[in-house]
Amino acid sequence: MDIHGNGVLVTGGASGLGEATARWLHGRGARVVLFDLNAERGTAIAEELGEGAAFVAGSTLSDGDTAAAIAAVQTLAPLRGVVACAGGAPRSARTLDRDGAPHDRQLFDDIVAMNLTGTFNTVRLTAAAMAAQEPDGDDGERGAIVLTASIAGYEGQIGQIAYGSAKAGIIGMTIVAARDLAVHGIRVNTVAPGTIGTRAWDQAPAEMRQAFEAKVPFPRRFGRPEEFAALVEHLLVNGYLNGEVFRLDGAIRFDPR
Ligand SMILES: NC(=O)c1ccc[n+]([C@@H]2O[C@H](COP(=O)([O-])OP(=O)(O)OC[C@H]3O[C@@H](n4cnc5c(N)ncnc54)[C@H](O)[C@@H]3O)[C@@H](O)[C@H]2O)c1
Repeated sequence: MDIHGNGVLVTGGASGLGEATARWLHGRGARVVLFDLNAERGTAIAEELGEGAAFVAGSTLSDGDTAAAIAAVQTLAPLRGVVACAGGAPRSARTLDRDGAPHDRQLFDDIVAMNLTGTFNTVRLTAAAMAAQEPDGDDGERGAIVLTASIAGYEGQIGQIAYGSAKAGIIGMTIVAARDLAVHGIRVNTVAPGTIGTRAWDQAPAEMRQAFEAKVPFPRRFGRPEEFAALVEHLLVNGYLNGEVFRLDGAIRFDPR
């Protein structure tokens, strides 16, 4: 796929990895729509990017908001790429706390909804829109989708039971979605980042950031959002990559804590 002149929807595009990816792809000629809950930042970034960029405020959990975001892409160009970055880990909690009280059920459901259900909603609705478009190129490809998991989906740390479960769900979804959507000419891949230096990490205490950095075998630093964006671009344009999860982590393996 040639992203130049084609439409890409970036969920979570108002911050961090999504923002970096939207900027990166726009800089390479894609028409990008940033879709995010954060209207203030999303609007400002889209205005800064200018022509070929737009922002739609809303939640990946809303069918109506997602439909509006898809429609916004299609006013710019055919929807050929989707990058699902919306998610996060607003709170951590153990399965049982130190006093033996069980994990809050609502907190678990909320974190799974934000990361896993929102991602699935993005996949099913964007795939339907892509499937209705004409294929492009020799392989009959209609589009490519890139999801964002986390290495916590493989080796979640203490306190990450909800987030780790949700990200493991995205990892598991990857091959199934690729198989389901093959008949429509849509590829699906996932990036599982380790520790990438975004605002989420800026808010963490300095000692905690240094401790995580020290555990990265090489290079001994946080990943850069642009390194994530470059991998996403490759997953969008390389037509033979399908149904796989790619760790982007400097070889770190999370310890229990
Ligand atoms: N930064 C890292 O080190 C890292 C590591 C592993 C995985 N990840 C994953 O990468 C993704 C992006 O992380 P980030 O560091 O850029 O975080 P971030 O908080 O900077 O950006 C996430 C964005 O998603 C948006 N969002 C959240 N829920 C949404 C919803 N339901 N609908 C629409 N928008 C929503 C937020 O408003 C925010 O702008 C997340 O899924 C996160 O779990 C990040």
